[in-house]
Amino acid sequence: MELLDKLQWRYATKKMDPSRKVPREKVDRIIEAARLAPTSSGLQPFEIFVVTNPAIREEIKAVAWNQGQVVDSSHLLVFAAWDNYTAERINHMFDLTNEVRGFRNEGWEAYRQQLLSSYPQRDAETNFSHTARQAFLGLGAAIIAAAFEEVDCVPLEGFDPPSVDKILNLREKGLRSVAMLPLGYRQEEGDWLVNLPKVRRPLDQFVTEVA
Ligand SMILES: Cc1cc2nc3c(=O)[nH]c(=O)nc-3n(C[C@H](O)[C@H](O)[C@H](O)COP(=O)(O)O)c2cc1C
Repeated sequence: MELLDKLQWRYATKKMDPSRKVPREKVDRIIEAARLAPTSSGLQPFEIFVVTNPAIREEIKAVAWNQGQVVDSSHLLVFAAWDNYTAERINHMFDLTNEVRGFRNEGWEAYRQQLLSSYPQRDAETNFSHTARQAFLGLGAAIIAAAFEEVDCVPLEGFDPPSVDKILNLREKGLRSVAMLPLGYRQEEGDWLVNLPKVRRPLDQFVTEVA
């Protein structure tokens, strides 16, 4: 299948088969796609929690509109964004870049100072809305990678983030949940969406050519 065929094949899976498990190598490649997602200034301001513990998943389901995929998937990815930008977090990524590339660059160091003199001074909510957008790039990459692996998933925003934060102790780690992605396999019986056509606005309502 070509990539676009796979993107047609994927859908927001409403019912997953609890007896089928996604092989760990596939999960790892889906996570790697999220890790490779580009982020603003390369700060990568989010982390992924892979929740397989059944009791914890039951707790999460209860605060996620009782959506069955939370427990019927084999792996539940929780995307958790930084709660704020701090000098320490910014320096860590700039230092890592220098370490990986093996050199310091004046332009890069000037850019570090530019971020250090603006991001940490902004209010936490402004920064969190920026980090959450970066986490969504990772989410998008993971969704496409799951389709590529022929693994079903459903992006979930239908949950109470403060409750999920509490269940996974995210605030203590300076993180806040922004989206979840159960990975599993569709169970066609009981899935009202599986055979319905995909609905998207036609191209002429979506793209404007500015030639
Ligand atoms: C950020 C985000 C949050 C979503 N939250 C939910 C959700 O909580 N529950 C659900 O069943 N579907 C959820 N969806 C699925 C969308 O409704 C679905 O992707 C959209 O209708 C397009 O359909 P398709 O994914 O089947 O192509 C979410 C999708 C995205 C991208």
